Amino acid sequence: MNDVLTFLEANRQAHRDELFAFLRIPSVSAQSDHKQDVRHCAEWLRDAMTAVGLDARVMDTVGHPVVLGEWRGAGPNAKTVLIYGHYDVQPAEPLELWDSPPFEPVVRGGRIYARGSVDDKGQLYLHLKAIEAHMRVRGRLPINVIVLAEGEEEIGSDHLAPFVEQHAELLKCDAVVISDSAMFAPGIPSILSSLRGLAYFQIDVEGPATDLHSGSYGGAVVNPATALARIIASFHDRDGHIAIPHFYDSVREWDAAVRQQMRDLPFQEEHFRLETGAPALGGELGHTTLERIWTRPTCEVNGLLSGYTGEGAKTVLPAKAMAKVSCRLVPDQDPAEIERLIQTHVDRVAPSGVKVTVTFLHGGKPWRANLTGPIYDTARAALKTAFNREPVITGEGGSIPVVGDFARVLNAPVLLIGFGLPGENAHAPNEWISVENFERGAIAIASLWDEYASR
Ligand code: BES
Ligand code: MN
Ligand code: MN
Repeated sequence: MNDVLTFLEANRQAHRDELFAFLRIPSVSAQSDHKQDVRHCAEWLRDAMTAVGLDARVMDTVGHPVVLGEWRGAGPNAKTVLIYGHYDVQPAEPLELWDSPPFEPVVRGGRIYARGSVDDKGQLYLHLKAIEAHMRVRGRLPINVIVLAEGEEEIGSDHLAPFVEQHAELLKCDAVVISDSAMFAPGIPSILSSLRGLAYFQIDVEGPATDLHSGSYGGAVVNPATALARIIASFHDRDGHIAIPHFYDSVREWDAAVRQQMRDLPFQEEHFRLETGAPALGGELGHTTLERIWTRPTCEVNGLLSGYTGEGAKTVLPAKAMAKVSCRLVPDQDPAEIERLIQTHVDRVAPSGVKVTVTFLHGGKPWRANLTGPIYDTARAALKTAFNREPVITGEGGSIPVVGDFARVLNAPVLLIGFGLPGENAHAPNEWISVENFERGAIAIASLWDEYASR
């Protein structure tokens, strides 16, 4: 192993410079203005994969392209691993809140600041560098690898499940490995045991044909903003439980041992609160903060729009109101089933006098790991090598939509080992990845392949 680690050590600066080039490409999947940047980023990534010794190509989908790299030189009797990541990034707005421009990466205080640094370009790139270390030093890897990088994760991965189904034979593997999450705390390597799923929808409430004088009409015409507020208020009861009938029907109990491990983590509630800047924490009655985030479903308003919101007062009865809402789901909730429940519920509670429409934008299945088998045993060993510490088992409140599809279509275990850190500002201004984690992550992954091959 030492030879490979020496290569990574000797090339730290070069690897960081290369990552910077990756980060300079504004591959924002959500914004059509950036469509060409997304494609350019895919082509850049294909060339980076080729440079580390993979057979790489850009593959078109109905949406943004997939980049696929393969090396199968270990032969048919060796294990095959599928590495997944995403090269698209979230929009950088609001730009004025960044301390340095989002697509001009800089190192400050041991952190690389840029949009996509931790989510997920930095974490994807460290996988390429781990592959390169093996290839350069030994001319080969001890396992076969497939690297699958998508350009639509941040907009819901709509075209990836069909892609995986269509190319199931090509993607056949013994394990899927993903670095697109965070460690529990600095210096504590972590293995992720669950992801939440998602059902994202928009509610439109339409009332009068145009905005009306709220004196001349108010009280006699149903106010769309008030109607929408009533609908939203009906989503929860006073204890923070979701009040949509049958919402919890398919929630599966958490394994007692995993729950105990979660309770044993050194979690500091007040530290977490301070990090959010909120005056107090709050959520579903009867659950701890980590349980609320990792093990319970939610229903969150993501955006609200109605009426006059400019300077001063304007007496107006708005013609319409709109809300974006998303439910995070836990095993075995199914996004399609949840959509039906929401539609039925909204139809039932919608006040008369307005027209209410629910539009579903995207969904993703929740996922829970089984945490046993060779890839997990190996991951524990490799993380210990890189971080000098036993890893902990964590959960996650976020979603990676394709993970459930990998498990289902490829029938392979999925290992999620991320190298982000709490406070990394993913999706927010001033996103960063720790330089140390970028480097140790590559070491951990490089050792993972040696250890996995020997099991
Ligand atoms: N890398 C995240 C998922 C994640 C979030 C992992 C937090 C660990 C911690 C991923 O890029 C992401 O942001 N997913 C979206 C998915 C959505 C757009 C379908 C999410 O969770 O909101
Ligand atoms: Mn991500
Ligand atoms: Mn993300």
